[in-house]
Amino acid sequence: MSDPANALEVDGLRAGYDMSDVLLGMSLHVGPQERVGLFGPNGHGKTTLLNTISKVIAPHAGRVVFMGEAIDGLPPQQIVARGLIHVAQANRLFPDMQIMEILELAAFTPRAQADRKANLDYVLGLFPRLAERRRQQCKTLSGGERQMLSIGVGLMCAPRMLMLDEPTLGLSPKLKDELAEAIAEISGRGIPLLLVEQDIAFILSLVERMYLVDHGEISREIRRGGEVDHQEIMNMYFGADGAR
Ligand SMILES: Nc1ncnc2c1ncn2[C@@H]1O[C@H](COP(=O)(O)OP(=O)(O)O)[C@@H](O)[C@H]1O
Ligand SMILES: [Mg+2]
Repeated sequence: MSDPANALEVDGLRAGYDMSDVLLGMSLHVGPQERVGLFGPNGHGKTTLLNTISKVIAPHAGRVVFMGEAIDGLPPQQIVARGLIHVAQANRLFPDMQIMEILELAAFTPRAQADRKANLDYVLGLFPRLAERRRQQCKTLSGGERQMLSIGVGLMCAPRMLMLDEPTLGLSPKLKDELAEAIAEISGRGIPLLLVEQDIAFILSLVERMYLVDHGEISREIRRGGEVDHQEIMNMYFGADGAR
């Protein structure tokens, strides 16, 4: 599997909480400029996987290689400094801070500082709602606006790759469409993407390849245009008997 051109390689990752493992040896990769999905029911380890890659959680075993460099021994801020950016699920950000303050604060690494102005212009252009509300406090934003701000924070970190955790959670169909356009625009700039989602239509509209996550393991890989077995997906959610 190991290919030095890959943006991200995860090999045999085991991690969890207290004594029990949630990730039971996960392996996956994201190619250069590739958009890859991670799909699966609640509680099966998707967030744990992203938290382990970005080192919010320490792995018990396995390897993570980002742009050819092993990063599983690094602290989280050094992973951010290298440009592997994790946009967390339902991020509450800083409730009392204004949009602009949060965006400016996000550019804390040397690479991000160097591109701060250009990245800020890009974020405000990509999400005009944020530009209109630039002096508004974060706690007054709608769910969709907060999601845009979370992605904006990720972009201010000068990403060389983005990992997004359920960006459509709680959004209306119209906002989902807007978000899909923004994500396509970002990845069109050559930024590889690992997109965690439970909205199958959303994920299939964006990715070239998708992994199915089942109880802490990758159960299958589906390529764009490949057959999606809806029965299999129903079984993942409701069990083999419940779906009939
Ligand atoms: N902070 C935590 N402490 C203990 N267990 C956790 C914690 N976060 C998640 N878990 C457990 O880990 C499992 C996987 O959760 P998670 O990675 O959040 O799944 P997903 O993102 O696929 O919904 C679940 O059983 C969940 O209860
Ligand atoms: Mg999750």
